[in-house]
Amino acid sequence: MAAESFDGELFNRKVTYHDREYQDYALRRESYLAPIDLEEETRLRDQHELMKLIYRDWDNSLHPNFIEDPESVLDCGFGSGDWAYDLAEYDPNCTVMGVDICPLMAPPDQLDNMDLQIANLNDRMDFVEPGTFDLIHSRFVANGIAATRWPNYIRDIHRLLRKDGWVQLTEWDLNFRSEAGNTDALQALQEWTRVYTQSLGLTSRPEGRKSARVAQDCETWLRMAGFANVSTDVRDVATCPWPADAHQRNIGEANLSNMKDLIRSMALYPVTKRQLRNIEQFQVLVDEACSELGNVDAKPYIRLYRDPHVKAMK
Ligand SMILES: C[S@@+](CC[C@H](N)C(=O)[O-])C[C@H]1O[C@@H](n2cnc3c(N)ncnc32)[C@H](O)[C@@H]1O
Repeated sequence: MAAESFDGELFNRKVTYHDREYQDYALRRESYLAPIDLEEETRLRDQHELMKLIYRDWDNSLHPNFIEDPESVLDCGFGSGDWAYDLAEYDPNCTVMGVDICPLMAPPDQLDNMDLQIANLNDRMDFVEPGTFDLIHSRFVANGIAATRWPNYIRDIHRLLRKDGWVQLTEWDLNFRSEAGNTDALQALQEWTRVYTQSLGLTSRPEGRKSARVAQDCETWLRMAGFANVSTDVRDVATCPWPADAHQRNIGEANLSNMKDLIRSMALYPVTKRQLRNIEQFQVLVDEACSELGNVDAKPYIRLYRDPHVKAMK
């Protein structure tokens, strides 16, 4: 699919579902089932700042230091545009293209070296010539890429990269764990993961079916596509301020509010529309899960996977 400009009425139309706003276009196709309203945009901005805290060991907090001075970059599913904006600002010599199915959370002001366009990542990515980019970034799009599309999505990324170019994929593993070994204290969270995972498969539309195992499976798909230098960086991220280390405690504090909003926004539509819970049951489950996220005695955490891979020589 060729990338399109932001003007089309088709992509700007919103629809409301249980007080949240969704992109009508994505919802009709079941391409993406999370809200695109101000609340979600704010969560994405805060989550981006959380990522910079987590990866502050990199010079620019945006990509690892060994990815040196990329000149041409693609951001897949740019969302609120913060990663693309920060990279374009950090390196004015770098051109950052972003694509997203939805223009509604994009920043109102873009920098001269940014180019944000509309494209559906479930379609073959032929909006630029093969071998265009030094770095392709894809973060938190697991609930927007169809389960069966993933191997070809990664192949498309491989094709669009220059020789020796990098891909950087970041996804949450949505299983909640207890550092204190007290999984009984996380029962609502585990139920949330179970119900959300089940909901992702409950549709007859292939594009509507998503995988809850993207973080864990990415490495296999990357190898299949021909990427080399496999290095998966897995970080355990607290969901409340329980770690003894002050920096990790700050991360836990920031992630508590992120995760409280995330479990509500990601699951509301698939779980209730696909009738695994009615809205009242859903609210009760999420309220219980939210209080478990903040249980410092249970030391809850969640895993974040980041796979930087260099494209293999052909
Ligand atoms: C959870 S947000 C993450 C945004 C950004 N990558 C970040 O890390 O902050 C997911 C974004 O991917 C976009 N998206 C989801 N499915 C998509 C698809 N099939 N094609 C293009 N964009 C998609 C959504 O519109 C949304 O902006």
